[in-house]
Amino acid sequence: MAFSKKAETPAGAVPKHVAIIMDGNGRWAKKRFLPRNAGHAQGSRVAEQICEDAWNLGIEYLTIYAFSTENWARPKDEVDALMKLLRKYMKDSIARSSKNNMRVHVIGDISALDEDLQESIRKLEEVSSVNTGLKFQVAINYGGRDEILRAAKAFATECANGTKKPEDLNEALFYSYFDTAGIPYPDLMIRTSGEMRTSNFLPWQLAYTEFYFTDVLWPDFNKKELQKAIAYYAGRDRRFGGVTEE
Ligand code: FPP
Repeated sequence: MAFSKKAETPAGAVPKHVAIIMDGNGRWAKKRFLPRNAGHAQGSRVAEQICEDAWNLGIEYLTIYAFSTENWARPKDEVDALMKLLRKYMKDSIARSSKNNMRVHVIGDISALDEDLQESIRKLEEVSSVNTGLKFQVAINYGGRDEILRAAKAFATECANGTKKPEDLNEALFYSYFDTAGIPYPDLMIRTSGEMRTSNFLPWQLAYTEFYFTDVLWPDFNKKELQKAIAYYAGRDRRFGGVTEE
């Protein structure tokens, strides 16, 4: 089952599900005397390429953090530029997802986004839902605590209207209310740019995930760097709270 530990990939193998915090766009731009938004634009091109690379390396699920619930606090022109990039990304992805056979699913509370962007997201999800290649999740207006609260509210509402009982609740049932329901927990989480924290990204789902941190800035990330992360993962001893068998 999607949520069980058994579904998570053993050590020595290519991770089935990789999650990425794409950090360092601003610093990449600053180093080149470019505006921060140029870093985001380059970051978005890298995200496109990494989807192809991930699939070619045998990864089945890829989840990226494009815009967090906390990112609204950035200066308005940066938020506007990120939204513009996301708009373009959703539109371009309609053709690209068919070409790449990629299924795109947006996680996060999209109700706070402009109506036209919500519409593009729905269209992309619908058009790409038939594709059988990479399962690609893009987190937009996503916060892990917010996701847990929304799941708790949805379950509580069903208890209040009598369709569920509190004693029904277990890990599998609770996970079915998440934005990532049906998607196995990530095996490997990559964060670029040297920061070592998870920043409210998939806190429930990352409980047993292996973490790989690299100083490489996201706009410089490429297939070779992804291969390094996979090699690191392959060397890990995944015990899931147990002990290694001799
Ligand atoms: C962190 O870099 C990056 C973000 C907050 C957004 C990530 C967004 C993209 C890569 C572009 C949009 C994505 C898609 C898929 C269209 P930062 O700005 O925090 O960098 P810094 O820490 O160097 O300032």
